[in-house]
Amino acid sequence: MLQMEFAMFAWVLLASPILGSSMAPICHGFGGIGDGCAAAKPGDSGKSSGISLGDTTLAVKVSVLGCFSKPCWLQNIRVGVDDSNSVASLAKVGVYLSDGTLVASSQARDVPTSLPDHQWLAFAFRGHDKELRTTSEQDYVWLVVNTENSVKLTYENADSGDEATRTVSELFAGAFVAVRIWDTEPGRRQWAGHFRNLRVQMDLGDVSILPGTLPLILESPHGGRITEGWPTRVTGVLDSDRNTDLFTEELWSELGARCGRTPVAVIFRVARKGIDANRATGSGTHTRGGELCADQSNSQCCCDLASASDEEVAMDLNDVYHSLLSSEVAGANGALLVPIHGTGRDRVELGVRLSASDLNQGAGLAPPSLADHDSDSSLRALGNATYMIWGTESFGSHLKNNRPSMEVIPSSKLLCPDPNLCSASSYTSIFNGGYNLKIHITNTQPGVQVEMPQVMRGFWSSPPAPEAAAVKQVGAALASFLNLHYQESCQTHVNFGLACGSHGQAVSGTCMCEDGYEGSSCGDCAEGYLLVTGQCMRLVVLGPPPGVTEKYGSAFATTSSGRPYLYTRKFSTDLTDCGTGCQPLDMSVRIRCDDNQCHSDLDSSSYTLGAALFDAAGHKMCNGTAARSAQAATDWWLQIPLASCPLLQNGNQDHVAVYLALWTSKLIKIRWEQEPALSARSRGLQYKTADYYQDPSAQSFEHLIDAVPPAQLPSWRDLSCESPSHCGTQDSCDCISGCTCRSWSGNFYGMMATLSMQPA
Ligand SMILES: *[C@@H]1O[C@H](CO)[C@@H](O)[C@H](O)[C@H]1NC(C)=O
Ligand SMILES: *[C@@H]1O[C@H](CO)[C@@H](O)[C@H](O)[C@H]1NC(C)=O
Repeated sequence: MLQMEFAMFAWVLLASPILGSSMAPICHGFGGIGDGCAAAKPGDSGKSSGISLGDTTLAVKVSVLGCFSKPCWLQNIRVGVDDSNSVASLAKVGVYLSDGTLVASSQARDVPTSLPDHQWLAFAFRGHDKELRTTSEQDYVWLVVNTENSVKLTYENADSGDEATRTVSELFAGAFVAVRIWDTEPGRRQWAGHFRNLRVQMDLGDVSILPGTLPLILESPHGGRITEGWPTRVTGVLDSDRNTDLFTEELWSELGARCGRTPVAVIFRVARKGIDANRATGSGTHTRGGELCADQSNSQCCCDLASASDEEVAMDLNDVYHSLLSSEVAGANGALLVPIHGTGRDRVELGVRLSASDLNQGAGLAPPSLADHDSDSSLRALGNATYMIWGTESFGSHLKNNRPSMEVIPSSKLLCPDPNLCSASSYTSIFNGGYNLKIHITNTQPGVQVEMPQVMRGFWSSPPAPEAAAVKQVGAALASFLNLHYQESCQTHVNFGLACGSHGQAVSGTCMCEDGYEGSSCGDCAEGYLLVTGQCMRLVVLGPPPGVTEKYGSAFATTSSGRPYLYTRKFSTDLTDCGTGCQPLDMSVRIRCDDNQCHSDLDSSSYTLGAALFDAAGHKMCNGTAARSAQAATDWWLQIPLASCPLLQNGNQDHVAVYLALWTSKLIKIRWEQEPALSARSRGLQYKTADYYQDPSAQSFEHLIDAVPPAQLPSWRDLSCESPSHCGTQDSCDCISGCTCRSWSGNFYGMMATLSMQPA
């Protein structure tokens, strides 16, 4: 019975001349309110409310009409909520297809505790992936609801158990599972001998109307994404203005947050290749009304398609779109109409119905004036053209203030497109606004078209998303404009809602970071700065120059000395960045870990690393130690803090030598820089034999800087690999087939080490 009612109601809608298989937003569901939604039947006991639920998903089966040959756009779901709720709770909704797959779920939102009688609570679906495809004319979906706490929802009688709301216990956090066959779920809502059906409804259609009361109507005719079922037009521009649909949705929310109430947004969901909704309704050369397309809208009409029947369907939908947009404009009493479009040019072009030659002519006057064009301006309802288009209170000027790096034309900073007159202009032409702006503008109805450059729309983003800063910048500019010309009191602070962390300040919709920080929320260290104890510090880093060749180094237990090593490295330092001096902060050594165990010889026992810094004369300046446990990650820098070091100064020398020394309490593998400069070799890899032969575990840097005659340097050699653990992990080394392992015969290597210093 209920299904039949749906079908009958839908038949009436489908038979109406404007519908066909193209869709205005249509309500699907149950509960008696909204076009296309089934009403409670006579004889029902009426609204029965007060069913508590929590940690339960409820599902209602709803027939879907009009989405079988062409997909529909999923817009929102409403749930009947009882006025007697006593607990605020989060709730969310979703949609399952008849085959059991979850196709969409909403963000969680609050169910308020206090509501008028039997309130509808709406959950909006937003984003790029809200296309709903069903498989046949008889198909249906399941609308599902879950709440975190007990919330009272509104029910009415259902004719049978089959029509009744299904129930499944599942926690709010885990709802909804990806696949669920609701047809076979046993739970049914029932009490007092009656089966009950949840009041829940869904809007589907090819046009989205986001409601609002601000004196502002956002319009997006070229951002549609539905292509299936729509043949490609044979003439005209086919590419959609990418992400203008999403930009419009987010701008709608942004203005809601700034102004306390939202604008209206009208968004066309069919891709431009199928219908150009910024054109007069017509095909070939003529409009439906018999006028020439050439006279109407950029020489074209909406729907030049190969087949006459496709054309009829497309023209019907274009008419639906335009009648919905017209009724929003008519009902809004002079609200600002803002069509949102995209341009391939790297600037914002504002269409105010003034041509390039109009703007050039006015800019050439002394003083510049648009007085000759007042009657053509699309903003004439709000003021004269010179003031509304070039003034510092114009929309273009507000936008330029909010995004100073972007070229915005026309604005007080850029009056006209001709670069000979207006030198900041990058292009000689300008788009002055399209058909939908033209047909709605009157002496009492203002509008301005916004052509958004790719960067602001997030043209290359994946998944598709507009640039967040651009949404805030355009939102702030519109807020300023509404405050001035419509006496609104929107928040114009451009950074509303922008998080810049503790090292940034929001300016012009982007985070301006303190010195040393960068990133969208100023959380990263800028170039030349390093993170030291949670702060980004300006550091001079002495170490291997970029691109230096590395060798995977080893410290072998079986080298000729048979001892753990103490290594030194001479740095010929360039301290020119240090100004009056640099405070050495730490020494970093690069360690290579080549398997889960961090080498068979770097066992899991913890160890100590010591480092010291010596000056050119051989005096130890400072030292430090770091306790380490074995690390599984491969290839890391090991940092050893150096406390209380004196400032290093350039003095009058071009280069100051410092020596880094390192010791370890067990064998580790470190990386070597191949072939350090000749001057560094005599200090490369040296150790003081006498000190360490006495007690290898009592490591120290003392006397380290003493020159070691080359003859006493370690006499490492190339050796045959005896087992994989002896392999020096040279590229393409295959120990099993008997390659040569790393040794140090004839070559001197330096540690891969850096010294970071903070300028005083
Ligand atoms: C244009 O409008 C502004 C603001 O209302 C006003 O100050 C200015 O005098 C007007 N200019 C002309 C030429 O009417
Ligand atoms: C620095 O070296 C001296 C002498 O070897 C030692 O006593 C001291 O503990 C070391 N300091 C640190 C921080 O390792």
